[in-house]
Amino acid sequence: MSQPSVLFVCLGNICRSPLAEAALRAEAVAAGLALTIDSAGTGGWHAGQPPDSRAIAEAARHGIDISGYRARQVRPEDFQRFGQIFALDQQNLRDLRRIAPSALMGRSTARVSLLMDLVPGREGTAVIDPYGGSDEDFAETWSDVREAARRLVARMGG
Ligand code: 4NP
Repeated sequence: MSQPSVLFVCLGNICRSPLAEAALRAEAVAAGLALTIDSAGTGGWHAGQPPDSRAIAEAARHGIDISGYRARQVRPEDFQRFGQIFALDQQNLRDLRRIAPSALMGRSTARVSLLMDLVPGREGTAVIDPYGGSDEDFAETWSDVREAARRLVARMGG
């Protein structure tokens, strides 16, 4: 059986979902859990670009180098390649659910849900988009995605 696979999806794939990817990679390594992890954006404007410099700086503050990550747009095959797809906010979730039924002519197998539903007390809430914000907003993004990553690893038996 192939190992569990997780895809994080935000709008641009340069701020929130790369940080979620980094947080889960770190938590999975710490827990000795083998996972396939990736991130993507519902939009393709930043495809091929590295993460936002403030996201790179926030990850670096936690000892993680994400400067080699490159943005990409969600693809139809993602709904079959990944077991779980987590949306960073409600609009991302709506967009994913709109894409999913037509992806692969209905052969989508991924479970699609809101990331913060993993965190008790935060169900139904967004990881706020920090793109137009400050360094503090990126720190809040990190705090949210790390908590969700910890919950996910615990749920997966890590
Ligand atoms: P992200 O943030 O979805 O967390 O990567 C954004 C990045 C870019 C844009 C919006 C949000 N944008 O409008 O280009």
